[in-house]
Amino acid sequence: MPRRLFVTTALPYANGSFHIGHIMEYIQADIWVRFQRMQGNEVHFVCADDAHGAPIMLKAESERITPQQLVARIAAERPQYLDGFHVSFDHWHSTDSPENVELSQDIYRKLRAAGLISTRTIEQFYDPVKGMFLPDRYIKGECPNCGAKDQYGDSCEVCGAVYAPTELKNPYSTITGATPVMKQSEHYFFSLSDPRCVEFLKGWALDGRLQPEVANKAREWLEGTTADDGTKTGGLADWDISRDAPYFGIPIPDAPGKYFYVWLDAPVGYLASLKANCAKRGLDFASFVAPDADVEQVHFIGKDIIYFHTLFWPAMLKFAGYKVPDRVNVHGFITVSGEKMSKSRGTGLSPLRYLELGMNPEWLRYYLAAKLNARVEDIDFNPEDFVARVNSDLVGKLVNIASRCAGFLAKRFDGRLAAIDHGAHEGFARPWAGPEAVAALYEQREFGKALREIMQFADAVNQFVDAEKPWDLAKDPARAAELHRCCSTALRAFRDLVLLLAPVLPAMAGRVQAFMNLPSLDWAALAEPLPEGHRLEAYQHLMTRVDPKQLDALFDSPAAAAPAATAAPTASKGSGGKSAAAAAAPPAAEGTISIDEFAKVDLRIARIVAAETVDGSDKLLRLTLDAGEGRMRTVFSGIRTWHAPEQLTGRLTVMVANLAPRKMKFGLSEGMVLAASFPDDGGGVFLLDPQDGAQPGMKVR
Ligand code: 2FM
Ligand code: ZN
Repeated sequence: MPRRLFVTTALPYANGSFHIGHIMEYIQADIWVRFQRMQGNEVHFVCADDAHGAPIMLKAESERITPQQLVARIAAERPQYLDGFHVSFDHWHSTDSPENVELSQDIYRKLRAAGLISTRTIEQFYDPVKGMFLPDRYIKGECPNCGAKDQYGDSCEVCGAVYAPTELKNPYSTITGATPVMKQSEHYFFSLSDPRCVEFLKGWALDGRLQPEVANKAREWLEGTTADDGTKTGGLADWDISRDAPYFGIPIPDAPGKYFYVWLDAPVGYLASLKANCAKRGLDFASFVAPDADVEQVHFIGKDIIYFHTLFWPAMLKFAGYKVPDRVNVHGFITVSGEKMSKSRGTGLSPLRYLELGMNPEWLRYYLAAKLNARVEDIDFNPEDFVARVNSDLVGKLVNIASRCAGFLAKRFDGRLAAIDHGAHEGFARPWAGPEAVAALYEQREFGKALREIMQFADAVNQFVDAEKPWDLAKDPARAAELHRCCSTALRAFRDLVLLLAPVLPAMAGRVQAFMNLPSLDWAALAEPLPEGHRLEAYQHLMTRVDPKQLDALFDSPAAAAPAATAAPTASKGSGGKSAAAAAAPPAAEGTISIDEFAKVDLRIARIVAAETVDGSDKLLRLTLDAGEGRMRTVFSGIRTWHAPEQLTGRLTVMVANLAPRKMKFGLSEGMVLAASFPDDGGGVFLLDPQDGAQPGMKVR
């Protein structure tokens, strides 16, 4: 019986482009989904933009557009990445959709009817200038422990102390720079601590459906931890699900001015997207989400959002009378040459740049698959390893079989296969685990192990070709039958290899299907060798080698030049040679730069929200700058001699927004403001002023 699968990846926030972390997750899920489809299972693979929340609202505001416009702009970018990397979602939706409003409110009403919603008055920081309650990430101040300035509300980057935002000294709102005040508000809570929830979750999370390390985490959260002296801490707390206006979100029924916290309606977006997909295909949505539905609900997520997916989400579904998830497949993060990724910026590997350079998306799919397993482990993208692995496995082993044999078959035997050589095929079966074992590995998401088995099969086929030497057989007309048998045997095995790799290399599989006239790419075809006389089309080359210069260009790009990755903007991380992009650029006259080089500098209008002297420095001012990003930046500038802080506050100026952040004795400096002076500063230093009308966030070009 075919299985019915409802598969999702985490919904990306709609305020930024995809980074390599997103693409890795989509590729992982897509390989699993394609494998399931090849098995004949019915798969509904959906995702959506996670549209709501304060950051998106503030970013839209700073760009003077509506949140809906911002979400639409980001949504319009999605297909080029998804198509580019062959990610086969059946539907892409948005949490800012009628389906999501209806489903979120329905789930809420059912939880309320079940007695699992309560209200409580809480006290929270409020920005009196902006007129909004401040999420923790928008509050900064001095560390209560070491006094370091400009620390976030949860922990100090200088001394590592952990504290509550209310403990910060001299707190300020990073939105307006105002001093926040404490203000009360009524909040709505989902009663996760209710014994019904705890009992359900203990069953759901600990029954073997989660990866062992994920189940252990869930157990800790569910049971709390017991100290040596026997005192218990932790256990589930009720979850605050409301936010006050202004907020970009879904209104809470019967609660004017209150909205669902974005994390309530985000996972409901999985169902909203499925519902829209069902409408598109004439399927009955209710038959997917009823508590006893004969559907496997599978979520692929990163390790940073386990809590939401193993506690809140299953409990919400259960007590609102919906089907609960069958599996939550958690993956680790991706690093690039060991460098950690930032959630908002990603790494220095820009997926769009990758595609723009014309790099083959299947190289990346194969490389990531080779590194992925079913555990919650981080994986590393290493440029040298990437070149070596792709060139050796895909070109050196896989394509090499077809390119060495297909020409002879076409030229000498009208493209028709000889009779099956059972002995040779039995020989190929020995050195690897076989299709059933590979299927089990795909099913378990042990992609690295699956590819290792497949490559052992490829090794055996290559050894066969090496030993038979079709190029020598071809020289002797008397050995035509041997040549025919050798090439036919190798090409039959090549077909099997391509089928086994089709979940990872769908485009290549499609080309091979056309070239070999394959009736189907189903897994079941592996049991049916191509018959004698089956005719192949003329061979077209299937894949080129990776050129290390492409890797240089990939890491040398403006798109990759996120602040954290720009310490040495011209440094090459690839083979050490000059980048392909640089090599291809027309030579510039001495002393001039190209427009592309100029465009690398991200100049922005910024408002100086605060300017202060710095204890211990008579040269520096600490500037708090609003560059229209929905957050403040701190920049240390050596202009104190010429500028009184009080004259700077409120002024607009020009800043370099993509300068690598620099750790200084006094704190982190996140950019540079521009000023005019002679080389020796004789005559003074003059901060640049934009013409009236310029706004924070505008680009200077
Ligand atoms: O962490 C994130 O990027 C969230 N936008 C993921 C949401 S997943 C699901 F719950 F929608
Ligand atoms: Zn500190």
